[in-house]
Amino acid sequence: MARAARVVETSEQVESVRPPLKWAGGKRWQVPHLRPYWESNQHRRLVEPFCGGLAVTLGLMPERALLNDINPHVINFYRRLKMGFVSTLAMSNVEARFYAHRKSFNRLLLQGRGDTPEAASYFYYLNRTGYNGLCRFNASGGFNVPFGRYANINYKKDFLEYKSVFADWDFVNMDFDRIPLEPEDFVYADPPYDVEFTSYSKGGFGWKEQERTAEFLAKHPGPVILSNQATKRIVDLYDKLGYKLIFLDAPRRISCTGDRTPAPEVVATRNF
Ligand SMILES: C[S@@+](CC[C@H](N)C(=O)[O-])C[C@H]1O[C@@H](n2cnc3c(N)ncnc32)[C@H](O)[C@@H]1O
Repeated sequence: MARAARVVETSEQVESVRPPLKWAGGKRWQVPHLRPYWESNQHRRLVEPFCGGLAVTLGLMPERALLNDINPHVINFYRRLKMGFVSTLAMSNVEARFYAHRKSFNRLLLQGRGDTPEAASYFYYLNRTGYNGLCRFNASGGFNVPFGRYANINYKKDFLEYKSVFADWDFVNMDFDRIPLEPEDFVYADPPYDVEFTSYSKGGFGWKEQERTAEFLAKHPGPVILSNQATKRIVDLYDKLGYKLIFLDAPRRISCTGDRTPAPEVVATRNF
């Protein structure tokens, strides 16, 4: 009975529930390309080992999902939304308030209280108000993104609409290859972009991690979709492992040089 009620609710919410955070590398634009793969597999659990801003899962609206990210703050925030969350934090797009809230958030982290509703409120505020929605920490673990200088921000306080959407979605926080995959799972993996000509990258996701991702996904017996920047070595890696490749043009924001050329992306699939 509860399940039937949720299906009706879900179809109405497909248009209305937006990703609650700003997230670098959001793949909302890919949802129309992914839907044909998902349509005949909707009975499966959707798994995102790198869920980030949740654009894809909120676009596809599965009944069941397993959503992982190595960033503990984003996962704490989603877990709070799943419980039913209303923020009581005073929020405004004012520089002095931003730095005061950033300090309070960092104090909570130092106290080991990063998994609390207070931390979720601060994290949401800093994500909306900070520069480009970035999530960056200094060597001692302090959040150090500067004030964003947006003209206008619409803050959300009431996140209760996410409670029913997230009811059968589980949120975990670990390195991607430790997630408890089931053989039947439908996996959509969107790791950090490969940045060619470097073996290390910010956030610790270098070439070794790209190889580890490709090999981890290749072992999965269920349907898999991988998205990445179409660098030569990424294309070779997935090609050699027998994935089927298609190429898409990612919308690219205008860079400081005015460059609007689309960035080529590869979508590698297997077991369809
Ligand atoms: C490109 S983003 C995913 C964006 C997401 N698809 C969206 O539409 O918003 C990649 C994500 O991988 C996460 N990540 C980086 N290293 C990871 C690891 N070793 N295990 C799990 N997640 C990781 C990052 O925190 C980031 O949120």
